[in-house]
Amino acid sequence: MTLQDRPPLDEEAIDAITRLPKAELHLHFEGAAPPSFIRGLAKEKNVDLSGIFNADGSYAYRDFVHFLSVYEAATSVLQTPEDFARLCTAFLEECAANDVVYAETFLSPDFCGGGDVGAWREYLHAIREAAEAAEKANGITLRGIVTCIRHFGPEKAKAAALCAAETAGDWICGFGMGGDENKGKQRDFAYSYDMAREAGLKLTTHAGEWRGPEEVREAVEDLGVERIGHGVRVIGDLATVDMLIEKGVTLEVCPGSNVFLGVFPNLDQHPIDRLRERGVKVTVSTDDPPFFHTTMRREYAALAKTFRWDADVFTELNRTAMAAAFCDEETRAKVLKTIENARTA
Ligand code: ADE
Ligand code: ZN
Repeated sequence: MTLQDRPPLDEEAIDAITRLPKAELHLHFEGAAPPSFIRGLAKEKNVDLSGIFNADGSYAYRDFVHFLSVYEAATSVLQTPEDFARLCTAFLEECAANDVVYAETFLSPDFCGGGDVGAWREYLHAIREAAEAAEKANGITLRGIVTCIRHFGPEKAKAAALCAAETAGDWICGFGMGGDENKGKQRDFAYSYDMAREAGLKLTTHAGEWRGPEEVREAVEDLGVERIGHGVRVIGDLATVDMLIEKGVTLEVCPGSNVFLGVFPNLDQHPIDRLRERGVKVTVSTDDPPFFHTTMRREYAALAKTFRWDADVFTELNRTAMAAAFCDEETRAKVLKTIENARTA
C-alpha cells in the first residue's frame, strides 16, 4: 500500500505503538554509553575527554569518520571488565525503559582486552553477569555478537574471530563487522568469517551504510552473511534488492542513525518503507542511541508518523527481527510469545 493510501495515526495511536514490546538487533555496546556515563568514568580515571563533548554535554563530531574517532576516544575510559559490566547495567535499563524485550549487542574484543582470548573471557564473564541481573530485574534478554572493526584491518579481525570462536555458545551467538566501510573490502575478512561460521556462529556485517549496492552484494556473496547492518543504500539497484529478497537476507535498519549521520537528508527520504513494500525483510534498531539522540521509542514514533505504519506493521517488524535473531530456539519462542501476547491483550 502506498503512503497516500494509509490513514495518518493520531497521537494516542502513536504512543501505543511506542509502548509495544520490541526486539533490537543492532546495538553497539560502547555506542550505547550515555555521554554522562563516559564523563563519569573519565573523571574517576583522570582522563581528559573534554574535546569530545559539546557545551550541552552531548557527543561532538563533524561526520562519520570523526564519529568513529570520538567513539574510540569515549571507549578508551572503559578499561576493565567492571567498567563494561556497569555500562551493560546502565544501557539495559534504558532499553527496558523503551520496552525492548530482546536485544543483540555488538562487542569488540579489541576494546575488551585487545584481542587476547584470556582477557576477553574475563570481560565477557562480567558482562554476562550484568546481563543476567538485568534480565531478572527487567525481563530483558541480551545476546552478544562479537564484532571486528574494519578499519583495524584483517589481522586484528582474526584475533576477534578467535575470541568469538572460543566463546561461541548460547550467549555469544554471532559474528559481525563494524567500522569504516570505506576501508578495504568485505572479502579481506573472509578468513575471520569462515572461522566464526565453523564455530557455529551466525553472521552479519555493516554494508550499504556508506557504500552502494555492490558492497551489499559482496557482503552476501563473499562473507555469506544472513543479516546486514544497515544495507539501506542497496536501494540504488533493484536487482541487488531482489537478490536480498531471494536469499532471505534481513536488514538491521537504523533510520535515526542514518538521518543523523547524513546518509539520507530526512526520514521521508529514507528507503526503509520502499524496501519493506518491495518485500525485503527489514527490522528497526538504534545503532548508537546517545550518539544520535535517539531511543527505540523515538524511532517507532518517527516511523509511525512519517510512513503511517500502524501497530500491525510494527508487530510484523518484531516478528521479522525474532525470526532473524541469532539466539537459540527456546529464547526465540519465549520472546515471540511476549510480542504476540501484547497484540492480543
Ligand atoms: N560503529 C559504531 N557505529 C557504527 C556505524 N554506524 N557504522 C559503522 N561502524 C559503527
Ligand atoms: Zn552499527
